[in-house]
Order: sequence, then C-alpha cells, then structure tokens
Amino acid sequence: MEDSYSYPAPDVAVFADGAALASGAAGLIAGFIRDHANNDPVTVAMAGGSTPVATYRCLAEMDIPWEKVCAWVGDERYVPPDHPDSNGAMVGRLLMDRTGARFLRVPWKEGRSAERAAAIYEEELLSAMAADAGGPRPDLVLVGMGGDGHTLSLFPEAPALEITDRWYVADRVEAQHSWRLTATYPLVHRAKQIFVLASGVGKAAALAESLNPVGDRILPARRLMAGEAPVTWLVDRAAAIFLPDEWT
Ligand code: 6PG
Repeated sequence: MEDSYSYPAPDVAVFADGAALASGAAGLIAGFIRDHANNDPVTVAMAGGSTPVATYRCLAEMDIPWEKVCAWVGDERYVPPDHPDSNGAMVGRLLMDRTGARFLRVPWKEGRSAERAAAIYEEELLSAMAADAGGPRPDLVLVGMGGDGHTLSLFPEAPALEITDRWYVADRVEAQHSWRLTATYPLVHRAKQIFVLASGVGKAAALAESLNPVGDRILPARRLMAGEAPVTWLVDRAAAIFLPDEWT
C-alpha cells in the first residue's frame, strides 16, 4: 500500500537485550496503568506471540492496580481456549489468572464461525471501552511485529488492512493456515498509547522498513503510526541493528 500520510519521526526506545526490553516494557506498562487508574477500567490490549512473554512475567511480579484493568487481546488465533496457539490462554496463564484483572477472551465456540466470534467480541469491547462521538477509545494497546512486518493479525496484502468500518474482524490468513481475529487500524489508531515490542535480529529488517522505509511499500507495522495514537517502539539492540545510529 502506498499512502500520502505524513508519518511522524518514530519514537524508539532501544534496550540492551531481551531481558532489559522485558523489564523496561513492564515498567512503562505499569506506569501507564497507574497513571490512568482513574479511568476505571483502564483497557489494555495484550500482545500475542512469544516476544511479550518475558514482559508479562515481569508484570506478574509488580505492584499494579489490576482491579482497575480490563484486558483484551489485540488479536487471536481462532482456536479453542485451551489450545497451545491461543494468545488468550498464554496471557491468562502468565498474567490474568494470577492478577484477577478482568480479561475479555475471544468467544470461541464449536460450530461458531470466526466472523461471528469477531462480531460478538467487537460488541464486548464496545461495551467495556470508553468512547467518544467517533467510537471506542482504547487506553493502552500492546502489539508485537512479525519478521514480515505484520502486526496484530494484520498481514501484508490482507483485506483486513483496508477495513475502515469495523473495530474487530476475522480474517483468513492462508500463510498461517488459520483464521485469525484482529483489532483493525480504526480501533488501535484511537488508543491513548501504542507500545510495539520487537526483539531479536529476526525483526531487524522489518523494523528498519517500518521505521525508515527506503521504497514505496508500507508495512502493516508502519501503519500503526498512521493515526492519532502515539506509538512507541520498544526494541532490543539486536532488532535495532539496521536503524540509524542517531535512533539507537
Ligand atoms: C500473534 C501476534 C503476532 C505477533 C507477531 C510476533 O498472534 O502471533 O499477535 O502479531 O505479535 O507475529 O510474534 P513473536 O513475538 O512470536 O515473534
């Protein structure tokens, strides 16, 4: 996708390694929750995949007003809730089951289509989130980034990238041989803050293209910055190897 959007200079925090990234990200997330605890609830979109696991382990040991938090999943694989691929199961096991925070899981059900589950979940999110005349206003959105530059379950060339009239949708991701459910750009662009977590050399090329593209291609991760939400990229040095020296 080419677009005429004038992207801001990216806000990047580079940490020495994966452990420092996990600890630093946990500190920023905890600080955001504490600063917004009067929002009762503070809505927090949890990132899926493997990168955030270390961050969630740090958060589980911190003193955070979880009773003020309503967590949800920015994206989910459409699998049973106890499936090893489930983001909700991972977040629940590492964090939500231990903290007692309200946690909205994707309503998977035998025989229910991914589209139907996405529509039900979208309604649950609309009921839980603050809103203004333009629609829901998520508070904090945590996302990861794939080595192909996808984020959430917004993959390159996917139809979901261009959706403007939905907040949460289902998309068949052939490359992953699976149905995915994902927040859309309209929803995450309305957040108060987006944190993107990227760790390891395997993300370095996609991170550089997302933050400092040389061609016309706009990766899905870069488009996180095409809205009003402030985006902070929390990365480790290995993922940052192709970034300009002045950013690292
Ligand atoms: C998912 C995630 C996805 C993830 C990236 C990075 O459901 O897999 O939402 O967007 O953040 O694929 O995954 P890793 O952290 O495992 O590299």
